[in-house]
Amino acid sequence: MFLNLCVYISIEIGVPHATDKDDYYRGRYIPKGASVIPNLTALHRDTELYPHADAFEPERFRDHSLSSAASAIHPDYHQRDHFNYGFGRRLCPGINVAEQSLFIVISRVLWAFDIRAKPGHALDMGSKSGKSCYSNYLLLQLIICPQLASL
Ligand code: HEM
Repeated sequence: MFLNLCVYISIEIGVPHATDKDDYYRGRYIPKGASVIPNLTALHRDTELYPHADAFEPERFRDHSLSSAASAIHPDYHQRDHFNYGFGRRLCPGINVAEQSLFIVISRVLWAFDIRAKPGHALDMGSKSGKSCYSNYLLLQLIICPQLASL
């Protein structure tokens, strides 16, 4: 998920929720039972949180000391790292498993493989080459070799 926001935001909307009673937001009436769809594109382009949302800036999380799980339940939404695990009481309960799994997989891949751009192909982390079910995705021409010497 960090990678998602390091490279660029790829998920555009969140999982729909429903209101369990009538509500108002900024003067607008939201009736009980209405579907409420989180606008992740807007949240992840909040310039207060992400001044350069479309840039490849992994360092945007360098000083972020909370885990995703801790930031997801923080009462101040400015303390959230990102919103890809959802919101409130329906927040993804697998968040810790997901984060630890991502850490293990990514660190193992970086440990075991030498990854570099294919000769003649720039490693342009800002390019958006394709379209997935959610949004644009990054298509890189890479050479991935096992680091046999260090295994
Ligand atoms: C990167 C991995 C994952 C992402 C991005 C993710 C994201 C999400 C999101 C956005 C929701 C909906 C939250 C909402 O309604 O506000 C959700 C719900 C859920 N997730 Fe995950 N999830 C991930 C991994 C996992 C894992 C590993 C598990 C289980 C071990 C899991 C179990 C669940 C369950 C059971 C729900 C439904 C919770 C409910 O409706 O009350 N997720 N997840």
